[in-house]
Amino acid sequence: MSANLKIIGVLTSGGDAPGMNAAIRAVTRAAIGQGIRVKAIYRGYKGLIDGEVTEFTSQDVSGIIQRGGTIIKSARCTEFQTREGREKAYQTILKEQIDALVVIGGDGTFTGGRLFAQEYDIPVIGLPGTIDNDLWGTDATIGYDTSLSTITECIDKLRDTATSHERIFLVEVMGRDAGFLTLNAAIAGGCEAAIIPERTSVMEQIEDAIGNGRRKSKNSAIVLVQEHAVEGGANAVAQMVEKEHPEYSTRVTVLGHLQRGGSPTAFDRILASRMGVAAIQALLDGQRNVMVGIQNDDIVLVPLSKAIHQKKDVKEDKWQAMLTLSI
Ligand code: F6P
Repeated sequence: MSANLKIIGVLTSGGDAPGMNAAIRAVTRAAIGQGIRVKAIYRGYKGLIDGEVTEFTSQDVSGIIQRGGTIIKSARCTEFQTREGREKAYQTILKEQIDALVVIGGDGTFTGGRLFAQEYDIPVIGLPGTIDNDLWGTDATIGYDTSLSTITECIDKLRDTATSHERIFLVEVMGRDAGFLTLNAAIAGGCEAAIIPERTSVMEQIEDAIGNGRRKSKNSAIVLVQEHAVEGGANAVAQMVEKEHPEYSTRVTVLGHLQRGGSPTAFDRILASRMGVAAIQALLDGQRNVMVGIQNDDIVLVPLSKAIHQKKDVKEDKWQAMLTLSI
């Protein structure tokens, strides 16, 4: 057990994700339970630079497990990408006597945390908090399950109007560079096609979607378009479809930040709770610069470098299932 662990800092950074609050609660209570003090850093790395730090008691995290967003706010901080910014952040670490950091976020959060850990020799534990599910070494990230459910609910609603008006809906889904949300939502929503960065056959897929519709005497379709799979997003795809098939009427729905909000699902609450407890245990065990992940329902520790740099691919059977079931 690490004797030097008296105070930890916790922050959320990058895009918020449902379940981040459950993670903050778990980290706080698990630490306090071990006699470790917890300092919440507001607005991610920006708050670390600016010294926006408040000590948390167990009561400060009461009643938040069911709340979306993050009570300690989040930000994307370019200043932390500079050496000067990180030096300022380190001054806060010294002033607040923080011995280790738990950072909750995605790829950018871990990249910054890892660099900081290396430069200033401070243990950093990452909790994967992002709707994108794009971190290697964990089957799921906190927020992904909730977002997937939200998107599926939206598709169900769009289905009603798509079939009533016999239209093709192009629905733009978030995910940064990854198609996990899009592909899985396409399966869950029974969509006719999904356009994701990991597979490139854009027009081919759309042709299939339209062709499939015809075969079934179905004159409507819902095609999910991952936000960065095609330049111009769902609007550009709609234009392509209208050009090739002027007989079809298209509509575009950009789901946008709706996908990031809402009360976390039970899955995300449990995942965040387990990961938060594991983060404190990892620090007590002397671990540093690792991400807490989940694999086959087991908590695992993965080097931050691997979580960031290794590519997590979509499962081929899911892609095939989506194609097979879209006829
Ligand atoms: O990483 C989460 C995410 O929601 C991505 O899916 C999306 O590309 C990005 O953040 C949007 O970021 P912002 O809220 O800063 O516009």
